[in-house]
Amino acid sequence: MQAMCYRRYGEPEVLRLETVAKPTPGHDDVLIQVHATSLNAADAYLLKGEPAIARLFSGLRRPKHPILGADIAGTVAAVGSRVTQFQPGDAVYGDLSGCGFGGFAEYVCAPAGVLALKPTRLSFAQAAAVPLAAVTALQALRARGEIAAGQQVLIHGASGGVGTFAVQLARSFGATVTAVCSTKNVELARSLGADHVIDYTQEDFTQSDQRYDLILVVNGNRPLAAYRRALRSGGRCVVVGGAIRTILTATLLGPSLSLTWGVSIRNVLAQPSQQDLTFVGGLLESGEVVPVIDRCFPLRELPEALRYRAAGRGRGKVVLTIF
Ligand SMILES: NC(=O)c1ccc[n+]([C@@H]2O[C@H](COP(=O)([O-])OP(=O)(O)OC[C@H]3O[C@@H](n4cnc5c(N)ncnc54)[C@H](OP(=O)(O)O)[C@@H]3O)[C@@H](O)[C@H]2O)c1
Repeated sequence: MQAMCYRRYGEPEVLRLETVAKPTPGHDDVLIQVHATSLNAADAYLLKGEPAIARLFSGLRRPKHPILGADIAGTVAAVGSRVTQFQPGDAVYGDLSGCGFGGFAEYVCAPAGVLALKPTRLSFAQAAAVPLAAVTALQALRARGEIAAGQQVLIHGASGGVGTFAVQLARSFGATVTAVCSTKNVELARSLGADHVIDYTQEDFTQSDQRYDLILVVNGNRPLAAYRRALRSGGRCVVVGGAIRTILTATLLGPSLSLTWGVSIRNVLAQPSQQDLTFVGGLLESGEVVPVIDRCFPLRELPEALRYRAAGRGRGKVVLTIF
């Protein structure tokens, strides 16, 4: 089979289209013919081997797993002897970031427990845009953010992969949603159902009188004290991503800042979850949530796709199509 491989850490140029052996499923695994896959921040970090401490897991001198790619959508080609949930021919999707990646290839093996049936309403390209970003948004809003109907929720970074799902999911939970993004993405955020949209190039939400029950920091670059100002007493700030300083402060100092400030500062480290993916699948099937695809590239153009995403031009997800 063909796969985009990296044999050393570096920039997108180190990726090469190679012919490699097709993987064989273990007893609990499913072999999937991949039709589409999408890019996530994790692919870019692993490609560069950054932060350096992560090389303890990904390989000290060179990458242990030469094929990146967490999100996949495809057709089941074979199943292991103990798999009962899926059968050859099923259309499935899933996030392989917890089981070795490998999605930038014509075939990949994954434990059945990380997959779910693809919503029939979605194309393979649309389905590949979903798993990691949507489940991250769900876990950030529901498990960490304790979102509830009627709450005022602000999403800082509403226009990327995670943010576009977060806006729609927050709406589906009955919250009043304020989306924060740059000028070029204001219409997109509105089209996803945001009740209010703030263009951060024109307005600083931390300086207004509006207070929020929950702030989701998706692409956040403000100090935590600024988010605290925009929270009502007892409100919650959940940090998903953005500036490394904000993420580290929330992770290391979140519990003590929460005690001092009278609000809750939390981070989220999303985990692949079949249960959460199935929950999102229901909303996708009903049309309440739709994946936003910015651009599709063929697999062999992965380096160009990574550069496009890194330039910050992406709105929603960047997808690779394979067959
Ligand atoms: N904690 C977790 O478990 C977890 C899981 C997944 C992702 N993450 C993190 O969450 C964050 C969002 O991920 P994502 O996949 O949604 O991001 P994304 O799709 O790359 O977000 C793209 C959007 O970010 C904004 N942006 C502004 N400056 C940018 C720049 N210099 N480079 C790239 N984008 C820029 C742009 O919107 P505007 O122009 O509207 O600002 C762009 O449309 C990342 O930091 C990622 O590492 C964390």
